[in-house]
Amino acid sequence: MGFRIREGKVDAMRALTVEPGVKGSLALSDVDEPVPGPGDLLVDAIALGVCGTDRELADGEYGWAPPGADRLIIGHESLGRVREAPEGSGFAPGDLVVGVVRRPDPEPCGACARGLFDNCRNGNYTERGIKEIHGYASEVWTVEADYAVKLDPSLAEVGVLLEPMSVLVKAWEQIDKVGGRSWFDPKSVLVTGAGPIGLLGALIGAQRGLDVHVLDRAADGRKPELVHALGATYHYEGLPKAIEQVVPDIVIEATGSEALVFDAMAANGAFGVTCLTGVSPAGRRMNIDAGSLNRDIVLENDVVVGSVNANLDHCARAAGVLAESDQAWLKRLITKRVPLSEFEGAFHAGSGEVKVVIDIEG
Ligand code: BGC
Repeated sequence: MGFRIREGKVDAMRALTVEPGVKGSLALSDVDEPVPGPGDLLVDAIALGVCGTDRELADGEYGWAPPGADRLIIGHESLGRVREAPEGSGFAPGDLVVGVVRRPDPEPCGACARGLFDNCRNGNYTERGIKEIHGYASEVWTVEADYAVKLDPSLAEVGVLLEPMSVLVKAWEQIDKVGGRSWFDPKSVLVTGAGPIGLLGALIGAQRGLDVHVLDRAADGRKPELVHALGATYHYEGLPKAIEQVVPDIVIEATGSEALVFDAMAANGAFGVTCLTGVSPAGRRMNIDAGSLNRDIVLENDVVVGSVNANLDHCARAAGVLAESDQAWLKRLITKRVPLSEFEGAFHAGSGEVKVVIDIEG
């Protein structure tokens, strides 16, 4: 996977790259087309989802280039079509495919040795487009067949949502496991943040028949519309107002906003599970009533659980959830699509936008 950044060659392909740690370094670069290794698929990119992590990469706040390289090809929310597949790989030319983000640490730690690389213990995992391996933001990419997810052909427009969906499949699994330590019969969930992660979390909550509440700052537009379409309740007047209507059994925090994170921990009901999914920048201090929060968590047997990434099993299950969900609703989650040549438009999305996608094909 050693792309070499080069200048002005006609047979080069375009890729979105950054110099990690350098704000404003995001650029369309000419790079060599990748050559598939044994067991790799060669894939023509269709689309790429852009999320908060990509914006942090563009702002120089996150990300690592491959060893020895200055720049990183970004992109971890992929969708492509197989051009070449090795015999016996289970893939064939024309298949719709998504590449998995994380690879296990080389040691490997106990979790990675068991395929549970989403729970890596030593932090030496690598991630396509984020941490030390080039990503999927290029016109052509390769992926090990073992780290590729085949999608139903009907998902050509929304398959780019597989990666964020896999993150939610894992988060809900964590909630179930934590709740499963005693009698657990949740009726309600409050989701903070109506971005793609929050809304996909709300979708799974609605599919489970829960009373779903979603909190965001946007007063109107696509976000409330998408929440109402799930049969869920939308709140935009702050957390105190929302919890006048619901004392949630489960909270999924999807903003990473520090004040909201602590308020969300305190907002749940007895035996509440708060699942934190948003990554926030370090260095933001605030005053909290730690005594009250501690007392509340202890006396109610509450749990606050962090959840990141997704393993191969979550990815496979996410493909099933996407295929079984309302395709029209999923399409409306994608509020903006820009061609690769206009990639900047994907990195300056307004607060009303939900998922922004870069179209790479054609
Ligand atoms: C991605 C995860 C990844 C995490 C941390 C998120 O944006 O969805 O797959 O593990 O960033 O790098």
